[in-house]
Amino acid sequence: MPLNTTLQCATGEYSLFRYPKNQHDAALQAWDSADELVIEYVANTYPAEKYITILNDQFGAIATALNQFNRVSVTDSRVSELATIQNGAENKIVDPIFCNSLEPIPSRDVVILKLTKSVAYLQDQLQLLAQNNKAVEIVACGKTTQVTSKIMSIFEKYCDNVKTSLAKKKSRLIFGTLKSNGTSEPEISPVEDRLNYIEWPEQGIQIGAYANVFSHDGLDIGGRFLAENLPTFTSDQKVVDLGCGNGLLGLAVLKQTTQSETPISLRFVDESYMAVESAKHNIAQTFPDEFSRCDFIQDDCLTKQKAECVDVILCNPPFHQQNTLTEHIAKQMFRQSLLALKPGASLYVVANNHLPYQSYLKKMFGGFKVHAQNKKFSIYHCIKRA
Ligand SMILES: C[S@@+](CC[C@H](N)C(=O)[O-])C[C@H]1O[C@@H](n2cnc3c(N)ncnc32)[C@H](O)[C@@H]1O
Repeated sequence: MPLNTTLQCATGEYSLFRYPKNQHDAALQAWDSADELVIEYVANTYPAEKYITILNDQFGAIATALNQFNRVSVTDSRVSELATIQNGAENKIVDPIFCNSLEPIPSRDVVILKLTKSVAYLQDQLQLLAQNNKAVEIVACGKTTQVTSKIMSIFEKYCDNVKTSLAKKKSRLIFGTLKSNGTSEPEISPVEDRLNYIEWPEQGIQIGAYANVFSHDGLDIGGRFLAENLPTFTSDQKVVDLGCGNGLLGLAVLKQTTQSETPISLRFVDESYMAVESAKHNIAQTFPDEFSRCDFIQDDCLTKQKAECVDVILCNPPFHQQNTLTEHIAKQMFRQSLLALKPGASLYVVANNHLPYQSYLKKMFGGFKVHAQNKKFSIYHCIKRA
């Protein structure tokens, strides 16, 4: 079936694409039936003078289709922000105001919340909304499989009058009104209170992560395998932790290089704002003396990185985009790593043995070596040809 890029809905017809627009696995639509359901409900229920806040709009379908409203879009994802901008331009629509996931959520008339994979992130967002202490209406949307009793109990904790819609095309809405205690002063807790801490006993490090960070309540075993099998670094190398999450690879590099007195500079890159801020927090806590040698960038892979100036890239690439299995992000990471590395410099990739990355790495780098391997994971070492 050809890819459907035209959303027909209560407010009109829109061309919508995932980001990046011409990605290889283009067989995927830029919106789903949960987006359609919430767009229809909000367009038919609220007058256009209302101010709406949209949380977790994945590729900007909701912000685009509800463009008659004054919109704020709250997202943790640089890719979602870029998709929303791309689809706004495609349909000649003014961008919403963007807000990142750690900022207080502006209090407006209606909140539209798209459910994501992370229950912790939902809890974090509702907690943050509750801090405004205003009885604002929430309309959440998701797949029927996401609307579990656990999710409903989280809504009931923060909202009154919680109920759901009938299911339509396997999606459902959740309605509620945020609880308010009637006082005018909002209680805002410090951002650091939103970190969840886990221990990394082998390294003697405590790692904090905000709610939407990959592996937020545990350490990823693939990442750990690479952290335990790092290459040896030499002084003054420029190293990148690509797709840094909580920053565990960079933390392991700093542990090794500070012990051997090999000062390096280190860049942490992730498309998730919460990931970048978690990595920043972890370096400041654990290696305060090395903090000035580090920088922290929210980017779609290495789009902002200058060419040919990096010595080593460490990468535990994602193989999902939200609920969808995809290789396009890993491939973009490899392709942009090749551009970013100096001639003769190295990319180390850790991946599950069943993932088909060898052929891509061979094609892009002309070959690779297996740096380490166990039953589940391999670490591939690729060198950029001089
Ligand atoms: C498998 S996790 C690895 C996290 C961490 N390095 C570890 O080893 O535990 C992949 C990371 O890539 C990030 N990511 C996903 N898409 C990205 C993109 N387009 N650009 C940059 N980072 C991305 C995710 O947010 C996630 O933190």
